[in-house]
Amino acid sequence: MKAIKPSLIAAGVLTALSVLAAPAFAQVSLRVDANQPGAVINKDVYGQFAEHLGTGIYEGMWVGPESKIPNVRGWRKDVVGALKDLHVPLVRWPGGCFADEYHWRDGIGPRSKRPVKVNTNWGGVPENNAVGTHEFFDLVEQLGADAYVNGNLGTGTPQEMAEWVEYMTSEGKSSLAELRAKNGHPAPFKVAYFAVGNEAWGCGGNMKPEYYASLYNHYTTFLKAPPNVRPKMIASGGNDNDTAWTEVLSRDAARGLDAISFHYYTLPTGNWDKKGAAIGFPETEWFSTMVRTLRMDEHIRKNVAILDKNDPQKKIGFYVDEWGTWYDVEPGTNPGFLFQRNTLRDAVVAALNFNIFHAHADRVRMTNIAQMVNVLQAMIITEKDKMLLTPTYYAYQMYVPFQDATSLPITLANNTVYGENGQGVPGISASAARGKDGKVYVALVNTNPREATDVTLDVAGQAIGAVRGQVLTAAAMDAHNTFEQPQAIKPAPFSAQAAGGKLTVKVPAKAVMVFSVEG
Ligand code: AHR
Repeated sequence: MKAIKPSLIAAGVLTALSVLAAPAFAQVSLRVDANQPGAVINKDVYGQFAEHLGTGIYEGMWVGPESKIPNVRGWRKDVVGALKDLHVPLVRWPGGCFADEYHWRDGIGPRSKRPVKVNTNWGGVPENNAVGTHEFFDLVEQLGADAYVNGNLGTGTPQEMAEWVEYMTSEGKSSLAELRAKNGHPAPFKVAYFAVGNEAWGCGGNMKPEYYASLYNHYTTFLKAPPNVRPKMIASGGNDNDTAWTEVLSRDAARGLDAISFHYYTLPTGNWDKKGAAIGFPETEWFSTMVRTLRMDEHIRKNVAILDKNDPQKKIGFYVDEWGTWYDVEPGTNPGFLFQRNTLRDAVVAALNFNIFHAHADRVRMTNIAQMVNVLQAMIITEKDKMLLTPTYYAYQMYVPFQDATSLPITLANNTVYGENGQGVPGISASAARGKDGKVYVALVNTNPREATDVTLDVAGQAIGAVRGQVLTAAAMDAHNTFEQPQAIKPAPFSAQAAGGKLTVKVPAKAVMVFSVEG
């Protein structure tokens, strides 16, 4: 695996290159135009997903008020505290596939009286409904986040869904508002987003887009929240290469539709039966993970082109409400719990996705990584009373300045290529924005696990004296934190000074960098 540096690279995956002799090359240069503000990067792009799956909620976050593990009304203090540092803007709940078998009335009232069900999607384990509507809203309140509730279309009815929305949002005198008050919350809950079903093409009912579009129209007719607190309504869309859902929904379900959701996971091999290992993987799987991650851009472009045709006024958002890495489960764990290790590779994947989402900020106004704790590409891993922060956690932390920042156009010239066997990906991925504090922030990712790259920086509209920020990298591609070595990988401070009016940043191999530009 070598790097080449041809000059004609814009973005995306390059194919049919006659790799791999490295010619003499020009310096990679990044120009940020601070005079041309683009779309605001909605903070909800940094949303999270918490499903009733494995130890994602139970154990990982919820231990119950009686637990010896320090908690606030059942929610772990350590985990909530760490998540608060990420400024988590939004949490999606209760699924995922779980959502389409979830009946909200099972999760209200005294916990001791709630029914125990079987979580048929995820490991066949008992679900005691200890976390229900009130507990979820307590969590988001503790986090200072907004709520994204996913309704049950698959096994529910329009009446059940309408009554859940009424239970959560009703301000007036209604028996459901009174029941909510009796259960401890007289004031309505704020539901920022509400989705009608999940993955209707699969676990949500194996439907065709036309059939789902009719159901979406049918159900949303009866979802009557007070106008000032009406959640943004989301239709469950397609995944991967399938654009039919966006086509049909933006055409047939556009009334009362705020957004179409989309799911895309990065599997190193692309094979669901043998996805690839989370740790101890070969460089070929580092490379294929980069290739497959960058396909997010292509998927968004194709769907946005359809939206631009059917919704030129850009009323409909395109929400990637499930994304992230999906590996073979950790050996010896319940396969239904989707537990996997999280390494430097995951942080690079997260940062590449962030840069792609920023580039589509006008349509991609919300996303949710899957998932928040102990499941798939998690921020946090827990074991009994211990917890550790993953490289993905640190990527989120480093990108906090991009929340609600204004995107700025960039030009990346003379980019490197990282590749093998006639295929390559751009060596450097970049993004820039003006933060809410007025500073220009730049993010750089080096996809090459072997070679550092020098990037010269130029900001039109601003003199550069220095840059200051953080860098996340490590010696091994699969560097990760463990309970024995919880700080094996974490960001380090970074700064560089301009010289002769120019500033060059050395981006280490396999690294994520975020810094502010100082005058
Ligand atoms: O995130 C895990 C699962 O992946 C979700 O429940 C489902 O929507 C998707 O297939």
